[in-house]
Amino acid sequence: MSKFLIRGGRKLFGEISISAAKNSYLPILAACVLCDDKIVLHNYPYYTDTESMCKILASLGARIVYLDDTIIIDGASINSSNIESELASQVRSSIFTLGALLGRFKKARVAYPGGCEIGARPIDIHIESFRKLGVKIIEKHGYIYCDASQMHSGSVVLEFPSVGATESLMMASVFVKGQTKILNAAKEPEIVDLQKFLNSMGAKISGAGTGEILINGVSKLKGCSFVPINDRIVAGTYMIATVMCGGDVTIKGVKANHLASLLDKLDKTACSITVKNDKIRVQATNRPMAIGKIETSVYPGLPTDLQAQILALQTISQGSSIVCENVFESRFKHIPELVKMGADVHIKDRVAFVRGVEKLYGASVTGMELRGTASLILAGLVAEGYTTVSGSKHIDRGYRKIEDELASLGADIKRVQD
Ligand code: EPZ
Repeated sequence: MSKFLIRGGRKLFGEISISAAKNSYLPILAACVLCDDKIVLHNYPYYTDTESMCKILASLGARIVYLDDTIIIDGASINSSNIESELASQVRSSIFTLGALLGRFKKARVAYPGGCEIGARPIDIHIESFRKLGVKIIEKHGYIYCDASQMHSGSVVLEFPSVGATESLMMASVFVKGQTKILNAAKEPEIVDLQKFLNSMGAKISGAGTGEILINGVSKLKGCSFVPINDRIVAGTYMIATVMCGGDVTIKGVKANHLASLLDKLDKTACSITVKNDKIRVQATNRPMAIGKIETSVYPGLPTDLQAQILALQTISQGSSIVCENVFESRFKHIPELVKMGADVHIKDRVAFVRGVEKLYGASVTGMELRGTASLILAGLVAEGYTTVSGSKHIDRGYRKIEDELASLGADIKRVQD
């Protein structure tokens, strides 16, 4: 496995185009199971998570052709509703495929999903919601056996606005006669993108982006060509990197309103942010000011997927902050590694107390999950001396060659063999 070797102290300058959103591509790939026609998806990002999802589609019988950054998925030959553990356990998004399989085959046998180790990540909301719509489910020996032959339309209230449960329910209900209503639905931009994708194939879905999504059943979907949105978390990561390192970076291809909560927080750091169409320019000259109180929450609140990165920023800011992780119960694994670099952080339950220090020092640190590894890379960019960050397999799940993208902005970072 490889790791990153970083020499800290460089400012960042230049422009960077953001790749497609991992958390939009993954449910869209799952939704391809619903269609027995050709689907063309553009800006394919080649994250390892999207590669894992393509392997799942291929295991179901789909034919996939890669043409540079376009992939063509032909679902006509999909003939299985069974996802084995060695594939399902690679990604959280394998559970989204459950909804699509129920939509197409009215049955499924899916192993429990994998994903970043940031908490227990149960699927009880998925299961309970499907049961409310008449799906018979048995969980046995690590597999979920579903019979949706009697699935019916109706109203489901999610006890928590789960992104995955919302997406899975949307897909499972596409062909169900009548109107299915999802209440307390997740509102993330990736949910809106999934609705747009499904409707471009002929589905009749409305309300995504609000807490109430309506799905009117249709009989069939046809193929389409689609461009998923770009990745707001990758964009936010590079914005935070610029505030930490200092410099002048323009992030291209991202919708500022998808990052309103982050822009609001970064306003407090005394950097300058200019938004023009789909470009966000970040200019930072002085040591950032501490933000103070930071709370992650569901959209449109501050994304939990930016918590580790914004916490890294607080470790070198002037003043103290508290960071509350309200979405996942175990998403502070990056903190002991940041402390090895000289950060002053104390944890109590889901709250981290951060006192900003003048300087971090290079060290050998290990990333344990996707966004935590990103935060360690950001800390290495500002630390004195050399930092090695192990855990490239985590970062490659959701960043496309992060070392090349940061080096293109002037960072001294390379990928080396472990
Ligand atoms: C999606 O995960 C994203 N992953 C996550 O991104 C993101 O952090 C998360 O949404 C929240 O925005 C993908 O889209 C592939 P949830 P998901 O269901 O669907 C609890 C990244 O770094 N919950 O909204 O798994 C759950 O434990 C990844 O890109 C239940 O209790 O998130 C968590 O505490 C990490 N029961 C909370 O809800 C359930 O049945 C939010 O989970 C489902 C969820």
